Amino acid sequence: MTDDIPVTQPGAARCPQGDSWEDIVADDTRPLPAFLARESYQYLGSEPLASARYTSEAFFEAEKERMWPQVWQYAARDEDMPNPGDYVVYNNVGRSFLIVRQDDGSVRAFYNACRHRGRQLRSEGGSASEFRCSFHGWTYNTDGTIKDIPCRWDFPSVTDEDAKLDELSAGRWDGYIFVRESATGPTLEEFLDPLPTFFKRWPHEECYTVVNVGKIIHANWKATSEAFMETYHAPETHPQLKKFVGDINAFYGMWGDNVNLDLTPFARPHRWWTLHNNHSRTSSMNTSNTMGAKARRWAATFPKARLPGAPWRQSPVNAIRR
Ligand code: FES
Ligand SMILES: [Fe+2]
Repeated sequence: MTDDIPVTQPGAARCPQGDSWEDIVADDTRPLPAFLARESYQYLGSEPLASARYTSEAFFEAEKERMWPQVWQYAARDEDMPNPGDYVVYNNVGRSFLIVRQDDGSVRAFYNACRHRGRQLRSEGGSASEFRCSFHGWTYNTDGTIKDIPCRWDFPSVTDEDAKLDELSAGRWDGYIFVRESATGPTLEEFLDPLPTFFKRWPHEECYTVVNVGKIIHANWKATSEAFMETYHAPETHPQLKKFVGDINAFYGMWGDNVNLDLTPFARPHRWWTLHNNHSRTSSMNTSNTMGAKARRWAATFPKARLPGAPWRQSPVNAIRR
């Protein structure tokens, strides 16, 4: 079957069957927040990317050196480390960090490497009153300051300032703890803008982690990341969703410089389902539809979010419940 696709400017094409996001917004019985209804078109290009971005070792190394240190990376949730001394080990692209709850309730982040010869201090999270290196016994307080250097007389040139753990930036939004290696750049609030403002209606502060699901996939990180940023794959990979997910009519957008948006219509069938069951756009939404009128009212967004970092935590936020 060939779609009769009208010629439009690049990026402005819409699926000829099924409900577009704009249709759903227009049809809603209640007004949507402006930020969910807003559409602002700007052509950002649609040319294929060079495959080397996914396969080139040099490109990957450049990302490690020039991109990841500038990124606020999601490293832990508040509930992973509720009490003073609780800590999480966060690893990414060959670097390891200790995220530590302080006595005053704040969170600080350190390189997970002893200042003596760089041995990793901890391999997994837990709770501690100090971090003692298992190589020669240099010992650090949970605020990163040096507590003890065995045979200190042999280190006359090492000051306490020299010996404290290297620290990196830590930030927090709605229960999510982020770290960034670079000491300069946008604040976490600026980096996530406008996500925190728009998510005030869905406070994740009141949520907690039910389960973390992780899997190691032997692929470039972008290949796996991008698989969760689109619903183009849904009809083929998850055909069971066709009855109630308007997958390829999803709305993609960008909020600010760092937040991608994917609004997927739910309780709206895939266009294939509409065509093969003789449901017009209108009848697919009326009460004779298997989803019914009640479902129609909750046709909305699937509030999942993906945050950069924490590879073992990159399950959708729907695993976090109130
Ligand atoms: S490497 Fe840690 S004490 Fe020597
Ligand atoms: Fe999927």
